[in-house]
Amino acid sequence: MKFAVIGAGSMGRGIAQVMAQSGATVFLIDKFEKAIETAKAHHAKIFARLVEKGKWSEAQKTEIASRIVYQHDFRGLEVCAFVIEAIIENVEIKKSLFQELEAIVDDKCILASNTSSLSIASLGAALKKPERCIGVHFFNPAPLMKLVEIIPAIQTSKETLQSTTDLVNGWKKITVLAKDTPGFIVNRVARPFYGEALRIYEEGFANPETIDYAMTEIGGFRMGPFTLMDYIGNDINYIVTETVFKSFYYDARYKPAFTQKRLAEAGYFGRKTGRGYFDYGPDAEPKIINKEELLLKNIFWRILVMLINEAADALYLNIASKEDIDLAMTKGVNYPKGLLAWADEKGIDHCVDTLDRLFNEYHEERYRCSPLLRRMKKDNLKFFRS
Ligand SMILES: NC(=O)c1ccc[n+]([C@@H]2O[C@H](COP(=O)([O-])OP(=O)(O)OC[C@H]3O[C@@H](n4cnc5c(N)ncnc54)[C@H](O)[C@@H]3O)[C@@H](O)[C@H]2O)c1
Repeated sequence: MKFAVIGAGSMGRGIAQVMAQSGATVFLIDKFEKAIETAKAHHAKIFARLVEKGKWSEAQKTEIASRIVYQHDFRGLEVCAFVIEAIIENVEIKKSLFQELEAIVDDKCILASNTSSLSIASLGAALKKPERCIGVHFFNPAPLMKLVEIIPAIQTSKETLQSTTDLVNGWKKITVLAKDTPGFIVNRVARPFYGEALRIYEEGFANPETIDYAMTEIGGFRMGPFTLMDYIGNDINYIVTETVFKSFYYDARYKPAFTQKRLAEAGYFGRKTGRGYFDYGPDAEPKIINKEELLLKNIFWRILVMLINEAADALYLNIASKEDIDLAMTKGVNYPKGLLAWADEKGIDHCVDTLDRLFNEYHEERYRCSPLLRRMKKDNLKFFRS
């Protein structure tokens, strides 16, 4: 089978690697010669490292590398069964690319988008055959992250959905099915991890290092929210938050924080600029962590309950199944447990009571409890049978 990836940036080159590893020939295409050269050099370095580590043999490396065809035009696309775009996040540019592609590819070829934030329906609308359009959302780095969100648009045919799911499962990925709504599953459900941490900080309850400590030491998260925001980049994380907020018609639950906006404006993007919430320079001052147990427990529980509320609301609104919501958060962003299973463990009544207490204290919409949680408390239900 032959596939194509359009856009040879960080996502595109990773997706091309996944496909080549599965035994397929991949055309990795970028408009810019420089991007192609960078992708080639990146692959050479990564592949050599995999051999060094003993994960691949020299013969395997040669074979996999030979399956990636780097080019900056659309030669060969007419024989591809599946083409995915991972170009710049701009709806008009993506639509015009899809139109260009549709004029070349076979009638049965699936046209997929790796978009993080655009509606798949809007991209499909650019096509003569919108039923062939689908969202296939990989996580960064694509070769390492197991999760792929599959997002059919309202125009997507059952055949496109089935073939795409089979294909991606065949690449040894874990697929979850998500509704075509802002942030799909992961980027929607994860918002409070950043938003509530920022709110706690803005209220002056704790500094970023203490909040991070609470989430890693008590919660078991691999990274605290501030370390993670500095890693992702405060510029990028802020834009995602703002986009999600606007896409949800300014729902207060997704309201961005001024703290993050100011950091982005100041150029304090995080690790990549040497400064974000933390200083990454040689003269950085040591972190001061408040290890008061009750404070740490309160921070952890407040952020967790907001995440649980978001996950429950996603289920309530049929964004995905309960199994897929939990799978998405454990495999897409490495949460230590699925949020709905965590809710069962902590007690639904405890979750509802905390959310109601926060709502009563602040009188803010961001703390409104999902109707599903409230109903479950009333009927004494759990998400999963224990
Ligand atoms: N970076 C992430 O963590 C991440 C995760 C999931 C999804 N995504 C999505 O994946 C897509 C790509 O993101 P990225 O981080 O790889 O971006 P990137 O900037 O690293 O790469 C984009 C590439 O597309 C190329 N390009 C731009 N316009 C083009 C065109 N018209 N034709 C061909 N090539 C073109 C650029 O030269 C560049 O090489 C975006 O839609 C983004 O939202 C990103």
